[in-house]
Amino acid sequence: MLVLGIETTCDETAAAVVRHLDDGRGEILSNIVLSQTAEHAPYGGVVPEIAARAHVEALDFIIAQAMIEAKLTFSALDGIAAAAGPGLIGGVIVGLTTAKAIALVAERPLVAVNHLEAHALTARLTDATPFPYCLFLASGGHTQIVAVLDVGQYVRLGTTIDDAIGEAFDKTAKLLGLSYPGGPEVEREAQKGDVDRFILPRPMLGRAEADFSLSGLKTALRLEAEKIAPLSDQDVSDLCAAFQQAVADVVTDRLRAGLRLFRERFGGPTALVAAGGVASNQTIRRALGRVASEHGTVLVAPPPELCTDNGAMIAWAGCERLLRGMTDTLDVAPRARWPLDGDGWPRRDEARA
Ligand code: KG4
Ligand code: ZN
Repeated sequence: MLVLGIETTCDETAAAVVRHLDDGRGEILSNIVLSQTAEHAPYGGVVPEIAARAHVEALDFIIAQAMIEAKLTFSALDGIAAAAGPGLIGGVIVGLTTAKAIALVAERPLVAVNHLEAHALTARLTDATPFPYCLFLASGGHTQIVAVLDVGQYVRLGTTIDDAIGEAFDKTAKLLGLSYPGGPEVEREAQKGDVDRFILPRPMLGRAEADFSLSGLKTALRLEAEKIAPLSDQDVSDLCAAFQQAVADVVTDRLRAGLRLFRERFGGPTALVAAGGVASNQTIRRALGRVASEHGTVLVAPPPELCTDNGAMIAWAGCERLLRGMTDTLDVAPRARWPLDGDGWPRRDEARA
């Protein structure tokens, strides 16, 4: 089975072709990602209107590249998948409409993929991870602990009540005069910093439910920075080290709670799966590995290029749905908000991709 996947929910214009193999894994035939980071950098974050225009300008070319690299024509595909949300609506419209046009012309089924589901299923593309597993998704727009029970069956165990973790890294970087995206910058600075000089809070520590809160930590960091301003290079490094360690401690504690809830409701998970840009942070990755082994399970962390937004994960989710006969009609609507488990009101971190 061969599927084209299109991703345009945030600031990456991406297309990929993935083959579903008989052993349950996927083979990536092409995976083209064009990042808009440089266009958004002057603003310190993603500007929706700039993102939508950039997707319009680049997408045709990116899809053509993906097809050329895969050495395929549209008629060789079994389906066309596009992220239909959640995300910045302008970009989602661009990707989904393009997918509909290709599906119509090539007379192939359309699969409208939930972007979060695509992150959730990536571990099956790379590692054929069996259900059920516990997903920790942490990016600029999402912070979620999710029980992944089957394709289309997700139970959210925890989320953030304010900022996403990546967003907190980005805001911290901005405050300290570092460039965007802030996560990698903060990690680099933290390596030179003294982790014990500043004591920052660890919000939500010890709570039984598995939710996160990051805004208090961010405020505490700002107050510390204001106390000692103007900041020397060493001050910046020390603040980054303190921040990163506080986040790693929070992640550890919240995942302990999440895995406990998982075990109570669904038995032991086959793995703890990491996804999203934040999962490329080495301190956080080590923390995840420790929590997984404490709970008698393994950490599955796909390579960074598959943790961050890409077309291969959309194509793969398309394969998984297509195999189960889960296709969509051409009138399927793009969605700015689209909670994975469909219950309750979408919280703030679901409004962004
Ligand atoms: O998954 P992603 O590429 O895009 C979405 O937000 O969907 O994640 C990007 C986010 C940004 O907020 C970025 O600062 C954060 O992930 N990030 C990191 C690191 N690399 C990326 N955060 C902490 N440490 C990193 N090394
Ligand atoms: Zn994403």
